[in-house]
Amino acid sequence: MSRPTVYIETYGCQMNVSDSELMYGSLAAHGYEAVDTPDGADVILVNTCAIRDHAEQRVLGRLGELRRHMKKGTVMGVAGCMAQRLGPTLLEKARHVSLVVGPDGYRALPQLLEGARSGERTTATSFDLEEHYEDFAPRRFDKVKAWIPVQRGCDYRCTYCIVPYTRGAERSRRLDDVVREVEQVVRDGMSEVVLLGQTVNSYDDGTHDFATLLRAVGRVDGVRRIRFTSPHPNDFSDAVIAAMAEVPQVCEHVHLPMQSGSSRVLKRMLRRYTREGYRDCVARLRAAIPSLNLTTDVIVGFPGETDADFEETLSLVQEIGYEDAYTFKFSLREGTPAERMRPEEFVADEVASERLDRLIAVVRGGARERNLRLLGTRHEVLVEKAARRGEMLQGRTRDFKTVMLPPDGVAIGEYHTVELTGTTGSTFTGAVVRDVPARRPLPVAGAPAPAR
Ligand code: SAH
Ligand code: SF4
Ligand code: F3S
Repeated sequence: MSRPTVYIETYGCQMNVSDSELMYGSLAAHGYEAVDTPDGADVILVNTCAIRDHAEQRVLGRLGELRRHMKKGTVMGVAGCMAQRLGPTLLEKARHVSLVVGPDGYRALPQLLEGARSGERTTATSFDLEEHYEDFAPRRFDKVKAWIPVQRGCDYRCTYCIVPYTRGAERSRRLDDVVREVEQVVRDGMSEVVLLGQTVNSYDDGTHDFATLLRAVGRVDGVRRIRFTSPHPNDFSDAVIAAMAEVPQVCEHVHLPMQSGSSRVLKRMLRRYTREGYRDCVARLRAAIPSLNLTTDVIVGFPGETDADFEETLSLVQEIGYEDAYTFKFSLREGTPAERMRPEEFVADEVASERLDRLIAVVRGGARERNLRLLGTRHEVLVEKAARRGEMLQGRTRDFKTVMLPPDGVAIGEYHTVELTGTTGSTFTGAVVRDVPARRPLPVAGAPAPAR
């Protein structure tokens, strides 16, 4: 008998991408074959995100579409944060869904799917504070960089955010387990690792902090680039910053969510830092790592945000000079403390949209100006994948700039010294100037389902 097939579609953050890799790995170990199209798959899983209403609406629409790809006997399951948030109501909303499983429930996935294939409709949304899926062998899609979860859940309680409710309390993996996984990915031919956690720099396994973790990962032979996402400004201790500066593999890029430039709004968001505190964090990082590039997340239209508050956000964005920013309109999430804010404080959608447009223009304008100045400079680029369009290959500098390269004499997985020859304002085109000792070339990866 041929093996049952499974297709997983992934939405949301890198943590979800990593979870999908774990699910694929576990199901492969239980006899499933992974396929890259939903057409006729025996199992279709949608790994979902609940961060904004828009993200959920997209998934609901997609669940309807995917129904058309189901054959007789196909089991459709919903995993991830939206599954955790909605639980059994998802089974009512979508009659063709027979399994709802939250982020801590993937260990039971093979049994749950077996039940679903024999006609059961089940919800599995208990939290398990011990669960790190240590014994799972993830099936990775990226052949160049490896997502390494080091922490699950979140203990902050930002008033807008659903994550603490969908992912539960913060817990860190043991340092030894992280190091063992890093050693494995190096043996598998990868040289870049991205350490993942909702507030990754608050990592604490009871014995080791994030600084110690960075140093331990840096000691693994064969690791050439270390990144991490997302850190919280309050958790950049001097020890963490020193480790970043001293471990040569730690790349010169930090994604440092700002959310707002107004201390008044930050306080209502319960971000636990002020405008000055955030600025100070940036200054400490830049003092230790002068060539550091920063990216950020910003929310506009948080309840109570005035024009003056928003101007403070614009001015801080300009002052800091981000390489890029993910910008969002506030979306009210059920069950978050923001629900208790006064209705008259809610910002009208037109106002929020206008602020969003202005913010995006400022971010793009600043990035464009800085990027134009970089033309002609040389950088080490790791070639990551085929570009979405055309023949070009796509890579990244250590400080996270995207560079398109002509494919001649260049292969995925290799490091090259590249001169930046052109820019769209946000991404670059480049030309290889000198070969850095070549690494083993890797085949073009079978593309995983897109995240976001
Ligand atoms: N743990 C990360 C953020 C994870 S969510 C951190 O604390 O930095 C990714 C981003 O989504 C957040 O940084 C925030 O900018 C945005 N976001 C979260 N909840 C949101 C909401 N309710 N409405 C709009 N944007 C939101
Ligand atoms: Fe959400 Fe705040 Fe936790 Fe980030 S730190 S996941 S924004 S609650
Ligand atoms: Fe990630 Fe979305 Fe959950 S951002 S943690 S998948 S709510």
